[in-house]
Amino acid sequence: MRKGSIIPCLLTALFLASLTGCQGPEGPPGPAATADNGSLEGFAANIKCGTCHTAEQDTNYFVEGRAYQWAQSKHAKGGDSERNSASCSGCHTTEGFIQRMGGGAATNQSAPSPPGCFSCHSPHQRGDFSLRKSTPVLIKSQIATVPDATFDYGPGNLCVQCHMTRDLNPKPDPTKSAPTDSIVITTARWYPHYGVQGQMLMGEGGFKFPDYAYQGNSIHTTATIIKQEGCPTCHMAEQVYPPNLGTGKAGGHTMNIRFPGEGGGEATLLTGCKQSGCHAAITTADFPGSSTAPVGAQTAIAANMDTLHRLLESRGWLETDQNSPNYGLVKIPASGKLVIKPAIKSGALYNYFFIEHDLSLGVHNTLYALDLVRSSIAELRKP
Ligand code: HEC
Ligand code: HEC
Ligand code: HEC
Ligand code: HEC
Ligand code: HEC
Repeated sequence: MRKGSIIPCLLTALFLASLTGCQGPEGPPGPAATADNGSLEGFAANIKCGTCHTAEQDTNYFVEGRAYQWAQSKHAKGGDSERNSASCSGCHTTEGFIQRMGGGAATNQSAPSPPGCFSCHSPHQRGDFSLRKSTPVLIKSQIATVPDATFDYGPGNLCVQCHMTRDLNPKPDPTKSAPTDSIVITTARWYPHYGVQGQMLMGEGGFKFPDYAYQGNSIHTTATIIKQEGCPTCHMAEQVYPPNLGTGKAGGHTMNIRFPGEGGGEATLLTGCKQSGCHAAITTADFPGSSTAPVGAQTAIAANMDTLHRLLESRGWLETDQNSPNYGLVKIPASGKLVIKPAIKSGALYNYFFIEHDLSLGVHNTLYALDLVRSSIAELRKP
């Protein structure tokens, strides 16, 4: 705590000094990060505080505007930064993420802040808003016998540092199809956590049944602009008024696609979709994007997911008692063990959560999501 008291005073003094002059004073070289405080990165030499901290002077970064957008995001408001133990803070808190990106292990964070400016950028140490990290990311496969895959979509690489899988045990295995092969599941959260969007986009990470003919991926997987810009292509598209309402509520640093529109209804950010060479005439995210999904892609996925849900329910693999704390999760019988035989059928349960947790209802990769849900249904319908 010794450092704790000195540094905020120093910062405040510098900060106030910077606001009184036309330009901030030259900042001192930053203190080096130490082992006991992985988050302390210091200031770049010659940094001018006013560049970013005076709205009136900041015609370059628009920090105020971006901070306003961020404040509307689920990053700011989601509430899950309370997941602050060492095993969670590396993605759910800025402090833990900085530790992790610095090559260390995230630790318990007693005063955590949600993923904010200093997660994705390092403005004080670098004096700019370059991305903290954007190198390709190896996402671990959670399916036995399937290799890990590298995600490489420009600035989207930063997103999947958090929007990635967490380890699943035991892993489902597409080769275990003999009637005697069994898998024993003991946790209601038998899924690779919530950040599966990167895998979905690149067409990896879903459970493929060997006897089903998969069609491949939607255009999103390989489209040049998405390969270059990644997730921000659609989630951070800047809004312009008119014609798109909702500036500051969607796109940019809100990263929201859906937002409260005029008149109380929900509106959808389609700026990213309408870029040149993409979907000029699109009016809804529920886009009839492929010949196999002549109805809206989201409608098609939702209908198939309903069917899959019912099939899993009838096998007793999903908790359907609304009063149970595990409602909507895997149903673990009183014995503490859910045994699935042949083990391969657990792939249907896995795919259900994979598609559910992607949260785009197939927009990220319609063909792939549709095949995963259809093949799962086919597997469960086998005698
Ligand atoms: C490249 C942009 C940039 C520069 C230059 C910069 N800052 Fe910051 N600083 C930020 C951002 C972004 C935040 C977090 C968002 C916010 O609070 O506006 C921040 C936050 C802070 C905070 C915490 C404020 C709070 O409300 O929590 C202090 C204190 C601070 N900066 C001091 C300084 C000082 C002192 C300098 C000059 C030595 C400086 N900054 C230079 C971008 C910058
Ligand atoms: C530091 C980790 C981290 C990074 C980096 C990150 N996210 Fe997130 N993201 C999260 C967490 C954690 C949540 C959930 C927040 C909560 O519930 O408190 C989230 C939520 C979201 C949501 C809202 C999801 C919902 O359920 O409505 C969107 C959209 C999103 N992120 C997009 C992105 C994009 C796009 C990027 C890259 C530009 C990105 N994220 C980078 C951790 C991160
Ligand atoms: C590898 C990064 C990572 C780690 C580690 C991680 N999470 Fe998450 N978690 C995420 C992301 C990203 C989201 C947001 C997904 C979304 O909404 O799209 C999330 C969402 C959640 C949610 C919200 C789900 C919802 O329905 O809104 C809970 C709860 C959660 N995590 C709990 C935990 C707990 C508990 C731990 C530690 C045991 C943990 N997480 C560790 C990345 C991570
Ligand atoms: C979840 C990750 C994330 C968070 C949190 C985040 N940013 Fe960003 N920011 C990005 C990405 C991604 C870009 C776009 C970079 C690109 O396309 O190359 C960006 C771009 C920017 C830019 C434009 C950079 C330039 O050189 O033109 C500024 C300025 C900026 N962010 C400021 C902020 C501020 C201020 C905050 C906090 C209020 C913040 N960001 C929080 C991910 C994030
Ligand atoms: C081609 C455009 C596009 C790309 C690229 C894209 N998304 Fe999405 N994303 C969407 C759309 C559209 C939705 C669904 C919005 C809806 O129906 O509410 C969505 C939904 C989501 C959601 C659920 C929360 C929400 O806003 O509805 C998260 C989280 C998310 N995407 C994260 C990511 C991440 C992380 C990446 C990169 C790995 C990514 N997305 C790439 C378009 C895109």
